[in-house]
Amino acid sequence: MRARFARRKFSGLAPLGLALTAVLAGCQKANPPMDTLAPKSDFANWIYGLFVEVTAWDLFILLIVVVAFVLAVFVFSRRDGEAEAASTVHTDMRLELAWTLGPAFILLMISIPTIRTIFREELPAPPANSLKVSVIAHQWWWEFRYPGTSIVTANELHIPEHRPIWVSLRTADVIHSFWVPALGGKRDVIPGQINHLWFIANTPGEYYGQCAEFCGDSHANMRFRVFVDTPEQFAAWEKNQEAGPVQPASGTAAAKGAAIFANSPCTACHTITGVSKGYIGPNLTHIATRTTIAGAIMKNDPKDLKAWIENPDALKPGANMPTLGLRGPELDNLVAYLESLK
Ligand code: CUA
Repeated sequence: MRARFARRKFSGLAPLGLALTAVLAGCQKANPPMDTLAPKSDFANWIYGLFVEVTAWDLFILLIVVVAFVLAVFVFSRRDGEAEAASTVHTDMRLELAWTLGPAFILLMISIPTIRTIFREELPAPPANSLKVSVIAHQWWWEFRYPGTSIVTANELHIPEHRPIWVSLRTADVIHSFWVPALGGKRDVIPGQINHLWFIANTPGEYYGQCAEFCGDSHANMRFRVFVDTPEQFAAWEKNQEAGPVQPASGTAAAKGAAIFANSPCTACHTITGVSKGYIGPNLTHIATRTTIAGAIMKNDPKDLKAWIENPDALKPGANMPTLGLRGPELDNLVAYLESLK
């Protein structure tokens, strides 16, 4: 009998241990890049507040369960040889009321802030002075457009700090989900419909995003970055993106690469303003201003770009980009051209 009690005591404390582990895991000093516990926007702050409130209630419930368990085992349990007492539990009105109204009250305390947060985020129209961003999800990369400008970019979204960002979400194919943990909650991107999301980022920096809905072979390779800029940085970025592509000086490797690009199948899928009008893959007009390529899974440097063009499918299973068979100096020149497109 004693051995059985000892086992029960251990299993009753296991949830407490798990909760402590979770709390300690959240207390590490350096924030990982996709940390929802280090909110950097008003929207992310609301969700974080909700998390703290719900966790506090969870710990309160855990405390009650542990106390009830300890009382049941050590105080109210029947000892060997003891006669069974008549049950009074089902006739005690106060106890019945407590375990009916208690959970209902806790559910109410959790649902009120949850519903309040949902309504705060669900605006019928863009907030005043907001920057509108149009997001188009593709298998497996993200396209970003800025309505009212000619800017079309991929996988790296630039936004200014302290200004409402009104994000419209569309998909070119299947269901995806837009998620930047430090800047707010997920929003599904659904065929045939435009969903919205809005937030005000409060700290300049680089934040990681990730498609959060399984969308095929390379779902895990469908990442992106959000750069929260100061208003000055954002204005400079915007001005550069609206300008045409850099023209390489004649005789350089980049100039040779420009000619290779113009006569290659690349033009069927990729746009470079004034050069090509492809619309299946990312716009490359200012590709060299991005820090990453291929759905933000690789660095944007000559080595990675070369590896990517040589064999896209090996690096991103299922990618629509074909292997073009470019090799040697041809490939080097093409890479030099692309890396010149600031
Ligand atoms: Cu797109 Cu998962």
